[in-house]
Amino acid sequence: MCGIVGYTGNRPALPFLLNGLRTLEYRGYDSAGVELEDASGELLEVKCRGRVAALAGLCEGLDAHQTIGIAHTRWATHGEPSDANAHPHRDCSGRVAVVHNGIIENYQELAAELAERGHSFKSETDTEVIAHLVEEELAGAAEGDLALALSLAASRLTGSWAIACVSADAPGEILCARKGSPLVLASTADGAYAASDVTALAHVTSHVINLDEGGIARLLPSGEIRVFESDLTPVAEPGTFDIDWNASAATLGGYPDFMAKEIAEQPEAIERLLEGRLGDSGIVLDELSLTPEEIAAIDRIYIVACGTSWHVGLIARAYFERWAGVPTTVECASEFNYEEVLTTDHTLCVIITQSGETADTLASARKMRAVGAKVIAITNVLGSTAARESDGVIYVQAGPEIAVASTKAYTAQLVASALLALFLARANDSISLKEVRARYREMLRVPELIRIVLSRAWQDEVAARAFVDAGSSLFLGRGLSSTTAREGALKLKEISYLHAEAYPAGEMKHGPIALVEQGYPVVVVVPESPVRDKTISNLQEVNARGACVIALATNGDVRVAQLADYLLLVPPAPEWLSPVVDVVHLQLLARYVALARGCDVDKPRNLAKSVTVE
Ligand code: AGP
Repeated sequence: MCGIVGYTGNRPALPFLLNGLRTLEYRGYDSAGVELEDASGELLEVKCRGRVAALAGLCEGLDAHQTIGIAHTRWATHGEPSDANAHPHRDCSGRVAVVHNGIIENYQELAAELAERGHSFKSETDTEVIAHLVEEELAGAAEGDLALALSLAASRLTGSWAIACVSADAPGEILCARKGSPLVLASTADGAYAASDVTALAHVTSHVINLDEGGIARLLPSGEIRVFESDLTPVAEPGTFDIDWNASAATLGGYPDFMAKEIAEQPEAIERLLEGRLGDSGIVLDELSLTPEEIAAIDRIYIVACGTSWHVGLIARAYFERWAGVPTTVECASEFNYEEVLTTDHTLCVIITQSGETADTLASARKMRAVGAKVIAITNVLGSTAARESDGVIYVQAGPEIAVASTKAYTAQLVASALLALFLARANDSISLKEVRARYREMLRVPELIRIVLSRAWQDEVAARAFVDAGSSLFLGRGLSSTTAREGALKLKEISYLHAEAYPAGEMKHGPIALVEQGYPVVVVVPESPVRDKTISNLQEVNARGACVIALATNGDVRVAQLADYLLLVPPAPEWLSPVVDVVHLQLLARYVALARGCDVDKPRNLAKSVTVE
């Protein structure tokens, strides 16, 4: 949800800024801009509607000797995508420029107040008020001190922000502020860097400073970074962490797109996650800082997440209830935040979030901590807000996920949830060590099962033909497969823009079956399971009404094969693990349909990878 970068140092800033925006483009890509500052403080701004490539085109031939700059790639919240609404935004004098990720909730009242005092606005964004507030503070109480001006300006804001700001009054300096939106910093011999996330910094350093909630940072051309609390009290030892992957992990590495790469990376991601997880007394999850007594006492679980991660939660519920016997509720974070919660003295909240920065999910975790629940985060991003604000964290170690559509993080999060459920089950004595070992051995086979599905990508390429000219589609499944159907439908919708309705197969006759007509594509997820026969009955119901049936079935399932127009075959897998294996076909299917419909699979319209606004 918007990406920001900044650099001040001894090298030309523009190459890093454009490169940084390219790596952060998955956060938003409807407009982009850059502000360069030379040693005397003179500012130069280039911005436009469109992608970073359009901005780079405008920057070609520019005399870009400046060694200081800030830049932004936007996902519009206030004001349509346009040249004027693209960041950076300046004050009236043109001496202050800001880029911002987040939402300033009180911007209308601030804008009215500022307008009354003579400020004029050039955009429809909430961000522009920040530039005008800094302008006023610089001329007033802050007397030219940019750090003080930004701190005072930030104290007037409500909402969420990661801000980078430059001013002709403080040549060479970049001031950053953060509340509710992520921002990381790096100090190197070449200068000081700021970015929304580590993917933009991985090629300049492996050691990153996390700007804490409410923090202010002053970046100097020497590379020095001074970190302060919101009232400018210096922070002696700001939090740091090491990036544990190489910058090349965030490049295409020969694949045509990131989605293709990330789908293919799933076996290795799961192998990494499972390595060393079985110990003498059960599953090893040393990263949870809860005591064994606290774990054993858990008597209620809330799983809270959004989107694809919420789908992980729907499956994880079955793991927690079946193995640990703990009643589990799964909630969409955006709804949960406005609901009453019924906690016990031993309630656990599990937040599942690939990015670790989803605003609604973070708000849910804070709400649960406030009522005394312990919070465990399952996340992919090291040092993310979810990880830092939780009582325990399981990193799924899937490596950077760049494509907006989540694939490898989904399957890794499923496996991490299973590990956590087995861990809880052992702690509260609901499961024997023997059974834990058996389940772990089953998980070890998953990478190989996924490799088999990957080798059958041609089946998805062929089945994609059924969707190319369709106006809508239906995804059906029962039991755990009803969630696989949901996830398959979500993938298809988000990258191919084809409507896909997911429904529990048995419920379909209560309404959605009315959609079915001759040639209407219906995906039926029907692997070997206790509900296979029931699902086949539903398959027959749509078949009888002329649907074009795309069936996901287990090798050798002749009965399903006879009823389907297209087959996506999976190797036999334990029922509880079938969601991890089966979904890979649906990821491939969605990608092929999107490609056939001419869509950009990595950067679907209207979406952003990391949804940092509520
Ligand atoms: C997944 O394909 C989606 N782009 C989206 O639903 C995503 O899963 C959701 O925004 C949650 O993100 P998170 O896991 O980073 O919290």
